[in-house]
Amino acid sequence: MNPLTQAEKEAIQYTAYITIAALAKNTSIPYCREIIQNIIAENKADLVEINSSSSLHYLVELRYKTSEKIIREGEYQQVIELGAGLTPHALNLQQTVTNYIEVDLAENSHLKRRIVQKLEPSLTVHYVAGDIFASSTWSKLKGLVKPGVPVAIFAEGFLIYSSQEQRQFLGEQIREILADNGGMFFMEDSLRFHPEVQEIPKIKNFTIALSNRSKNTNYSKSITQEDLTKEWHDMGLIVKRREPDKKLETAYSREDEEVLDTLKHWLLFARSTC
Ligand SMILES: C[S@@+](CC[C@H](N)C(=O)[O-])C[C@H]1O[C@@H](n2cnc3c(N)ncnc32)[C@H](O)[C@@H]1O
Repeated sequence: MNPLTQAEKEAIQYTAYITIAALAKNTSIPYCREIIQNIIAENKADLVEINSSSSLHYLVELRYKTSEKIIREGEYQQVIELGAGLTPHALNLQQTVTNYIEVDLAENSHLKRRIVQKLEPSLTVHYVAGDIFASSTWSKLKGLVKPGVPVAIFAEGFLIYSSQEQRQFLGEQIREILADNGGMFFMEDSLRFHPEVQEIPKIKNFTIALSNRSKNTNYSKSITQEDLTKEWHDMGLIVKRREPDKKLETAYSREDEEVLDTLKHWLLFARSTC
């Protein structure tokens, strides 16, 4: 796999600011506003589109809350968050998770570490700064996992940018950790895996805007949920789907509700552990 260029890294890292701003603006999720204030204090105010009026912010809240629900319900003490960006999951899950490991590209990872240390100086989080599609990153991640403790591995707003080759690599790494320790991998369902909604004008516009913003050419190549299921299955993973909880603080329209009704979270297990 080709390593990301500096321009690609900058563009994809930027997408994390959009989502934390959406959560801070539309929800009461703890720590989101403090994180935004700290980003602004670091002279990065221009990156935080606090007034952005995307009509799809409800999807960010949906995935955030569903992930925390899954971790709390499963009482997972060990978590690996892929492409963590600036989410406050580690802060909000500190009563449940004792070994929190998160990975992102260097600039976002370092910024997150600085902010979280300011907000909760006594909280221990392992920050791995690196490319998730590099083997060296997984050697570091595996070295931080406590053997025999089931791991919840998850990704929000990250797999949507992936190619089939990248998912194949990821599936191999994840399956190994889950087969060794138990646990599961989960990710949100997204517009990318629903070609049937891509003709809705605001979704089409969003897809074009996000592809341009992230400089990621995969995002606009939609794949069906059936094809994605087959990919995970062929990698030796058991696939289950879960209805998301649609009680959200972010406002959404009737048309959005129809989109929401098509989405189901993805839960993946190693065959030997399920
Ligand atoms: C849309 S943001 C989502 C951030 C966060 N999960 C959220 O929901 O707010 C995508 C994140 O994935 C990170 N990312 C993208 N490609 C990556 C890669 N190859 N290795 C590590 N991190 C990556 C970006 O830097 C960014 O923080």
